[in-house]
Amino acid sequence: MCGIFGIITNQKLSLGKVALEGIKRLEYRGYDSCGIVVHYNSQLLVKKDAGKIDEIHKKLKLDDFPIDAKLALAHTRWATHGPPTKLNAHPHLDCNKKIAVIHNGILENFLELKAELKMKGHIFTSDTDTEVISHLIEDYMSSQLDFKEAVAKAIKRCEGAYGIAICHADCPDYFIVVRKESPIVIGIEKGKTSYCASDIPAFLPYTRSCYIMDDDEIAILKAGDVEFYELDDLSKPKDKELQNIEWSIDAAEKGGYDHFMLKEIHEEPVALRRTLKIPDEKIAELARVIWGAKHIYITAAGTSFYASLAGKFIITKFLSKYIEAIECSEFQIQLGDSLQEDSVIIAVSQSGETVDLIEAIRWAKDKLQKKIKIVSITNVVGSSLTRYSDHVIVTQAGPEIGVAATKTYCTQVLTLSLIALKIAGFRKILSDEDLKKYYQALFSTPNIIEEFIGRNSDLIKNVVDNLEKSHNFFFLARGISIATAKEGGLKLKEVACRFIEGYSAAHAKHGPISLVREGFPIIFIAPPDETYQRLVGNVMEFKARGGKIISVVVDDDEVITNLSDATIRIPQPGNKYYSIFSPITFIPALQLLSYYAALKHNLDPDQPLNLAKTVTVH
Ligand code: F6R
Repeated sequence: MCGIFGIITNQKLSLGKVALEGIKRLEYRGYDSCGIVVHYNSQLLVKKDAGKIDEIHKKLKLDDFPIDAKLALAHTRWATHGPPTKLNAHPHLDCNKKIAVIHNGILENFLELKAELKMKGHIFTSDTDTEVISHLIEDYMSSQLDFKEAVAKAIKRCEGAYGIAICHADCPDYFIVVRKESPIVIGIEKGKTSYCASDIPAFLPYTRSCYIMDDDEIAILKAGDVEFYELDDLSKPKDKELQNIEWSIDAAEKGGYDHFMLKEIHEEPVALRRTLKIPDEKIAELARVIWGAKHIYITAAGTSFYASLAGKFIITKFLSKYIEAIECSEFQIQLGDSLQEDSVIIAVSQSGETVDLIEAIRWAKDKLQKKIKIVSITNVVGSSLTRYSDHVIVTQAGPEIGVAATKTYCTQVLTLSLIALKIAGFRKILSDEDLKKYYQALFSTPNIIEEFIGRNSDLIKNVVDNLEKSHNFFFLARGISIATAKEGGLKLKEVACRFIEGYSAAHAKHGPISLVREGFPIIFIAPPDETYQRLVGNVMEFKARGGKIISVVVDDDEVITNLSDATIRIPQPGNKYYSIFSPITFIPALQLLSYYAALKHNLDPDQPLNLAKTVTVH
């Protein structure tokens, strides 16, 4: 959470403007306050305040700094320590206003450090953990260490997770970046300009050449150049591989859409087609590992967890082995000593940075070392998750900026489905004809979504109009569609601020049904699979109690359609080959429903209240 951007150049650039655009592209990481510091004439010029970036920009003109300035750091915040106020906004300075720090992450021992520094006379002006860093560096510099040494020494005392950028008024030619468990990437325009950022899209308009920082690394950024050191050894720079990023900048811009969320839903067919091109050998590699495992776990958070629930169902069908799905925050506590040797853990994460997931994986690796394999599915090359994994597939959704995950969900389920079909092939449990039909259905998912999106916006807006006054919803389903119900419900909850319960339609009789009154909206997810007949019974039970039934069904559905007040129809054949992949093809309907519901309630779907896209705190 929080977005960091830094730039140093020898070119004539409007640094304020570039820094402002940089944090705008990171705003999905946090949007309750922001700030920019520009180095100019041996002084640090700071503008910061609470609020969204555009509001602050209107007030403070964040792009207006001296034109010949060459170094700037900028930050967009998701509050952890201290409420979103001007004083708590980053950057944070030392007593002499010479050192400026921006930070993403949490310093667990900040109270202890703060007490020590206060005793030495340092004056603090904020409630944040971050401010401790500038004072600690100041303290070490006062005992004759140079800036770089003082940073290294200070950082070694900081416990927790961090991505930090620091500049010094007396050091105009460089700034310093350090990382532990919070993502930082370095972009380079050779000989001209260097950037640091929490995520690649921040500098994508200027360069695709980038370094991905590792934990406990320190980078010295100069104009168009960078040196990396181990935090423990500042004597010699390290070699690091420069990577070329293939993402296009269009993917990080709204491109004519009102919101990233809408754009990213429309990008689903393209994201799926690209993910379908992941080399077959890569899919086979992961499929083989999963097939050979004695015990299989799948773990993730939020939307990625619901993708995992769908994936678990599909893989289990073709593997005939139990897969245990556990939310990553519960992984260690639930498994404890029962975690078995010869296990495989499938870890799913869009960002590859979710701290609870990283912690779960690290715990499992520490516990069983080589006797456990980590297989991960992420959308971000070089993310922390990839470093702790034995086998990685990178989904090809492209950058996802909207805080609510949309296209990455589809590509995660697709990837897990490809693995499942590969396992079916290895195990020879299907006839060639059957396997071919499943592949055909899976490869049709982009076309189905394309056709659906093309024809259904008005219908969905109509459904939203009819539900305007409803505050509480059930999303009900059976079998694999419970994952779809939970994920669809999560979308409505986060972007439209409605209360929803995503639940098993059968289980809902054991309690939740008591809430149903005349007009209570219930969204049934109803592909024609083996659960359909029983779901019909559930629809009738809820209808009999006055529920307003909205169903998501396939084109030629009749029975549930006739019981429903409104139906959203997915253009796909009503057979088992397609139904098993319905978590992919049915979800755009619920994503669009949530999007239009957010607009109906005057909410910004790209920036839901209290959320940040990448959760790097426990
Ligand atoms: C919901 C959403 C979150 C994330 C969750 C995990 O729309 O985006 O629930 O899915 O925070 O994030 P990743 O996938 O980055 O691990």
